[in-house]
Amino acid sequence: MCGIVGYIGSREVTPLLLSGLKKLEYRGYDSAGIAVIENKRVSIVKTAGKLLNLERKLEEYSPTGHVGIGHTRWATHGRPSNVNSHPHNGCSNDFAVVHNGIIENYLELKEWLVDKKGHDFASETDTEVIAHLVEEFYDGDLVQAVRETLKMVQGSYAVGIISLKEPDILIAARKDSPLVIGLGKGENFIASDIPAILNHTRDVYMVEDGEVVLLTKEKVVILDQDNKEVNRDVYHVDWDIEAAEKGGYEYFMLKEICEQPEAFKKTLSGRIQQGKVKLDELNFTREQIKQWEKVFIVACGTAYHSGLIGKPLIEEYLGIPVEVDIASEFRYRNPLVNNKTLAVFISQSGETADTLAALREAKRKGATTLAITNVVGSSISRVADYTFYLWAGPEIAVASTKAYTTMLIAQYLLCVYMAQVKGVMPEEKGREILTALQELPEKAKKILDQKELYLDIAKSIKEARSLFFIGRGYDYNIAQEGALKLKEISYIHAEAYAAGELKHGTLALITEKSPVIAVATQKSTYEKTLSNIKEVTARDAFVIGVAEEGDQEILKWVNKAIYIPKIENTVSPVLAVIPLQLLAYYTAVVRGCNVDQPRNLAKSVTVE
Ligand code: AGP
Repeated sequence: MCGIVGYIGSREVTPLLLSGLKKLEYRGYDSAGIAVIENKRVSIVKTAGKLLNLERKLEEYSPTGHVGIGHTRWATHGRPSNVNSHPHNGCSNDFAVVHNGIIENYLELKEWLVDKKGHDFASETDTEVIAHLVEEFYDGDLVQAVRETLKMVQGSYAVGIISLKEPDILIAARKDSPLVIGLGKGENFIASDIPAILNHTRDVYMVEDGEVVLLTKEKVVILDQDNKEVNRDVYHVDWDIEAAEKGGYEYFMLKEICEQPEAFKKTLSGRIQQGKVKLDELNFTREQIKQWEKVFIVACGTAYHSGLIGKPLIEEYLGIPVEVDIASEFRYRNPLVNNKTLAVFISQSGETADTLAALREAKRKGATTLAITNVVGSSISRVADYTFYLWAGPEIAVASTKAYTTMLIAQYLLCVYMAQVKGVMPEEKGREILTALQELPEKAKKILDQKELYLDIAKSIKEARSLFFIGRGYDYNIAQEGALKLKEISYIHAEAYAAGELKHGTLALITEKSPVIAVATQKSTYEKTLSNIKEVTARDAFVIGVAEEGDQEILKWVNKAIYIPKIENTVSPVLAVIPLQLLAYYTAVVRGCNVDQPRNLAKSVTVE
């Protein structure tokens, strides 16, 4: 996730920016840069890669001054490169901007700036439009120019802006992206995250959406949307740096589970417009989609589990048969891939060796290849013909959570998009799914607001030697993900079974108190799953049911019920998996496991 730091005061700014950026490294990034107001210019030094690269560049030339902004970039629009790194400037080099978030209408704005106003752009980023807009609107008042700019942009942002025109001020603003102001004596700071400034001050203002902040070295003025000064209470930070890096969470995994509402918004950002899915990065034609006689979805681990949900989706709404393959198996079975195939490769990291090898194989056989990945510029995104980025922000914990749920959202969007272009999705159904997708952030938050509930449930299963997850259809697919999550971080053996399969063998393993997690959120299979729950209840199993809120019936047959908010049933797996993530997390915690770095596992598996 991108990081911002900014300073105005009397100290030398470059080392301050650098040390602030170092404190943001844990967020993950792929390039970094700073901009400093020097005597007669705004000097920008930036580069792709780690901060070490930036430090090397600064050895050649290190700008001196007392006002500056710095940035670590996690690429979204445009691959990681020197030119795409922040800060960005307009044509005149008088302005510099750092930005976190996504400007959804940047293409439109860029076109206007280039065609109508004669601006030249250097980078592929969405951020650069902000620098050009500020330059375009500047008429002797930087705050006003920033206001005019922000009126035009749609999307999310936290920005830091400096200008040679007004060298004694620093401007910041936010909407849907975190931003804090650090208060010092004769100096002030901006940062996307508290650790960046914690060495200098513990007194901060939290900036609210729609506010613009004017900083000088002596004062900080927060302005609301109507340009009125706002009185804000000072928040005194009493955490240490380590806790702050994890945003106060004990583990990155919990932080990432709780980041899901935000991650959902980002994955959806700009991709639903007037009841239609808009995916500029794909722009498939109707003819192209019509020529695909088969779809392959290929991935590993959690990403593979997400593909299991993509299959019934595409089969139902596009009427194209889908095969889902484990990447390490795909190449060795000579799959029937040809130029009438769309092959989709899903990978959080974009570097998984098996998935990459499978992608190369599918390409060699003539398939059109599409990557769904979280990491911009990753190997898989570079090899595939098309890429759909998740924009979920960096995932640090080995156990994948927000990447899984955003992979599901990506596949809903992809499916509705292709069905709409092909003209085979009833308008009403498309609207229903898209509306439900937009409800996800708020409904996920409801589950997360009650996360402590899962600690108690975790205590009731923590001594189990083996656990069973059951469900049908989509519920079975998320049961598979739930079992993997529990195994990998709590080391309790867990297996998922299609509920209907139980009586064909596995039921023999169910005895008194065997823990069974039964997922029953899908209306079409509910009655049948309930019968399967009764089968295990009759054998005195200890059953935890996951159901839709309002389901009273399930209470009669389970020992504990977990409820998820009601939502359109196709989309409900995104919500129903969250309790399973939380259950795995708290079980690992009560068992004293190292949640973020489970034994024997690595975040990115780059060997076959
Ligand atoms: C998930 O919790 C795992 N740690 C693992 O299964 C992971 O999903 C798999 O290795 C694939 O990784 P990728 O998405 O980066 O390709």
